[in-house]
Amino acid sequence: MALLPIIHAPDPRLKVKSARVDTVDDGLRRLMDDMLETMYAAPGIGLAAIQVGVPKRVIVIDVAREDEPRAPLFLVNPEIVAASDEDATYEEGCLSLPGQFADVARPAWVEITYLDRAGAPRRQRAEGLLATCVQHEMDHLEGILFVDHISALKRNMILRRLLKQRRQQSVGD
Ligand code: NI
Repeated sequence: MALLPIIHAPDPRLKVKSARVDTVDDGLRRLMDDMLETMYAAPGIGLAAIQVGVPKRVIVIDVAREDEPRAPLFLVNPEIVAASDEDATYEEGCLSLPGQFADVARPAWVEITYLDRAGAPRRQRAEGLLATCVQHEMDHLEGILFVDHISALKRNMILRRLLKQRRQQSVGD
């Protein structure tokens, strides 16, 4: 397995709509395993393939707490087939917007279909943190970031802070 470089906003690749996967093969499983290792190392609880520059509809997630055993989820071609009317709000962050956080309201539960790591079709209901994480990662497949759900004022503040961080880092390099 290998650690992959994570791309950061405002990289234009993060705006790309990812393409459906035709076949879950060994190459795709290698990508998913590398994504999972990259996510754990970051550390983070979700990662979409486009965040490592691969425009495929592939997501890895693990919302297990630190004191719980790892519980990785591999989602290929995920679709939301049902969602609650009621919203839940979580403070979200993103490995592509390091150090930035904002409250985002989304449906409190969603039911999804997807192909798993073996390519088998699955249907699952996600609630709580997992529901938020699934929706956040599925947004990445459409080129949408969590900051696209908040006010333009807050979004611009976050993007300005990221640019400033990046300038300071490149001065340091
Ligand atoms: Ni993200």
